[in-house]
Amino acid sequence: MKVDVIIKNADQLVTCASPDGPKRGLAMLDVGEIQNGALAIEEGDIVAVGNTGEIMSAYTAREELDASGKVVCPGFVDPHTHVVYAGDRIAEFEMRIRGQSYVEIMESGGGILSSMRATRAAPVGQLVAETRPRLDSMLALGTTTVEIKTGYGLDTRSELTMLQAIADLSVSHPLDLIATFLGAHSVPPEYAGQTEAYVDLVVEEMLPAVKTWSDKQPPHALGAPLFCDVFCEANVFSREQSKRVLQAGQMLGFPAKIHADEFENLGGVSLAVELGAISVDHLDVTPSHEVAQLAQSDTVGVVLPAVNFNLGSHHFADARALIDAGVALALSTDINPGSAPCPSMPLVMALACRYQHLLPAEALNASTINAAHALGVGHKVGSLEVGKQADLLIVDCNDYRHLAYQFGGNLVERVMKRSRFVKG
Ligand code: NIG
Ligand code: FE
Repeated sequence: MKVDVIIKNADQLVTCASPDGPKRGLAMLDVGEIQNGALAIEEGDIVAVGNTGEIMSAYTAREELDASGKVVCPGFVDPHTHVVYAGDRIAEFEMRIRGQSYVEIMESGGGILSSMRATRAAPVGQLVAETRPRLDSMLALGTTTVEIKTGYGLDTRSELTMLQAIADLSVSHPLDLIATFLGAHSVPPEYAGQTEAYVDLVVEEMLPAVKTWSDKQPPHALGAPLFCDVFCEANVFSREQSKRVLQAGQMLGFPAKIHADEFENLGGVSLAVELGAISVDHLDVTPSHEVAQLAQSDTVGVVLPAVNFNLGSHHFADARALIDAGVALALSTDINPGSAPCPSMPLVMALACRYQHLLPAEALNASTINAAHALGVGHKVGSLEVGKQADLLIVDCNDYRHLAYQFGGNLVERVMKRSRFVKG
């Protein structure tokens, strides 16, 4: 049979295959590696995966690519980001070095609100222009699908501007982008001391406006919906307020995500399980009884070790315990101007291995197939399996473990997105 492209002779072809949903427990140790691997691609999708002998005897191709000496693996999926924003927070970086904490800066009107001020002042074209080079860096480091949250607008107009920036970038940038509405990211200054009234605004005005906006958008390339997220945290949004926002979102067809247990435990994981959230993210201080609930659920647990690293913390989410309990675990950068100005999934894997005791195989599955499930797109991306999109990396090493073992450089030599090379 004749196909568009064959990639052959890979020292290791790492599939991360998991046909029945996200990986859990011991399955996380299996990256589905094929020695001397090959794959055949037709019209942007994978039509066969196997060893080079098998593939070459069944297929001929208009274009053949030799991957000798290289690893071929799925493109990374980054399932939790705040990559659309204006400005930077370098001054706060220095304040933290001098001893102030992230929470202290946030409570004194900096933090998320400082990015809100810059983002509100930016027209959509400026947001697009500032974000594009960040997406370019993520792509160069091997990310091929990215979730992006709003949440630096915090009023209806500015939240819609952020959504429009994401929509504009998704037509003009090769990455697949998936949007999440995070109007409940912080209480803006005009509602200071009136959190309940701001929640009313989110539920009664913002969410319906977001629904009207999203109904006018073309269908998503991966079939992804718009998600709705909330920062469930002490002195931000309570468990009850989070529940109100997320249920209102669900009524409009927006599946729930939750920022939970980043600093204090408010029961956000049990809320995620109760609401059937697609993911619950951070999990730095989740108690064991909620870990057990999460393990019994279909909600993916997302950990973000670049945040702990960036905040100079020695405490990390206990990702080892999460995997051992049976949670479907994913990794993400959380790229944002405050808690994690980090575009790199390989660096996140390197941190997860060192501070959270993941093995490289677990870190890779958490950054590919499980991360895709944290966005509900595990049937289209996140692994190299027949019928999935040909989103893959050619990595300049002969063993996938180098991706987490080395750090600070970039081993990703070429990035293929839907059968087209977008790097290299
Ligand atoms: O996931 N925790 C809330 N949101 C982000 C931080 C955003 C910011 O600091 O600008 C996070 O860490
Ligand atoms: Fe976040």
